[in-house]
Amino acid sequence: MRAYDLILKKRSGGELSTAEIKYLISAYTAGEIADYQMAAFCMAVYFQGMSHRETADLTLAMAQSGAINDLSGIEGSVIDKHSTGGVGDTTTLIVAPLVASCGVPIAKMSGRALGHTGGTIDKLESIPGFKVELSQAEFIRQVNEIKVSLISQTETIAPADKKLYALRDVTATVDSLPLIAASIMSKKIASGADGFVLDVKTGSGAFMQKLEDAVELAKTMVAIGKLAGKPTIALVTDMDQPLGTAIGNALEVKEAIAVLSGNGAWDLTELCLRLGAEMLVLAEHSSDYQAAYDTLLERLQTKAGLEKLRELIANQGGNPDVIDNPSLLPAADYQTVVTSSQSGFIKSIDALKLGSLVMQLGAGRIDKASSIDYSVGIELKVKAGTYVGINQPLAVVHSSQPLKNEPEAVRDCFGFSQSPPPFRRLIWRKITGGDV
Ligand code: URA
Ligand code: CA
Repeated sequence: MRAYDLILKKRSGGELSTAEIKYLISAYTAGEIADYQMAAFCMAVYFQGMSHRETADLTLAMAQSGAINDLSGIEGSVIDKHSTGGVGDTTTLIVAPLVASCGVPIAKMSGRALGHTGGTIDKLESIPGFKVELSQAEFIRQVNEIKVSLISQTETIAPADKKLYALRDVTATVDSLPLIAASIMSKKIASGADGFVLDVKTGSGAFMQKLEDAVELAKTMVAIGKLAGKPTIALVTDMDQPLGTAIGNALEVKEAIAVLSGNGAWDLTELCLRLGAEMLVLAEHSSDYQAAYDTLLERLQTKAGLEKLRELIANQGGNPDVIDNPSLLPAADYQTVVTSSQSGFIKSIDALKLGSLVMQLGAGRIDKASSIDYSVGIELKVKAGTYVGINQPLAVVHSSQPLKNEPEAVRDCFGFSQSPPPFRRLIWRKITGGDV
């Protein structure tokens, strides 16, 4: 087989066979196909798309490009949650301990910041002492002992995706549905979990901004999960404004503590309960969705989830005192209140722009080697639908330097209307099936 012929076939709108897709991925991972040929192939896929069968084959080939993690040493079925990426998406820090507090094991590998979106691993590293790398034996032992461990994705998980993602990032081929579906599901399948709850974001801050595209992505990923023999469901959820009120690493840890204490923002709390309830049902812990939701609500009220977060932090070398005293987390030298220059209802909050601003403040990396500032970020004082008067606070910017143009840029992220804007849904769809 020659890469040239496969690029030409896809460019002409043809459908690649299973063997052809396997060849492309294994030869690319082995360094036998050059980046420029693979980039041309990704661009051909971007324009011609892939059939469901091709997408499933691509996913499995990418999952098998490295090791499939062995979680058979964990007692009980392991359900993983995955978000397609959002702004202020603090859910893992909340859902993982909350679900684990019900006795359902969480053995999760997470990622770092990507583009304008933050990453769970960076957020955890803002906790003084927290170790995100454990040996496989330590990982399994901790999950069996306290039901939860969160670690960073190991090098052996889907190496094909690692190479492909870096290539797509610089060749304008990230936002292709089959490539996103294969990228995410290959890593999930390789992580070794027994089932998946996917949180597919839609709206201005999501990779899939249009609802129809997000639904299609969700259906494709659910179908691939099932094809791999893993029960999978997806919620298509709103990312038109940031989730909760905090964006930034240490700020989001604080926010997770607030939600688990029962004092969190409504949208973030509700999304965590909904995702967590789906996980309890897939794990066969609860007989039905309502029972699962009620169990989690009770764990929130008794602070069982908060205690589980404390245990998780202590077991991974972090300072558990941050739970009672969040001021032990890194704090920024400057806090600047951004006020409104007009009165009215908040109609929109540009999640993409706010996410990018937080990255520019230092919460993300400029290149692979750069270090990040855990303390910086933006705290929202309003959400879509809030009424504000002139000179009332919209947000607080946490920074390590005095600000220059940033307050103006933050102010521009808020859209106003004179009448209350229509209420926007938090959960758009639940996808339980799809065809491959
Ligand atoms: N997240 C991923 O892991 N891969 C993508 O392609 C997009 C979002
Ligand atoms: Ca948040």
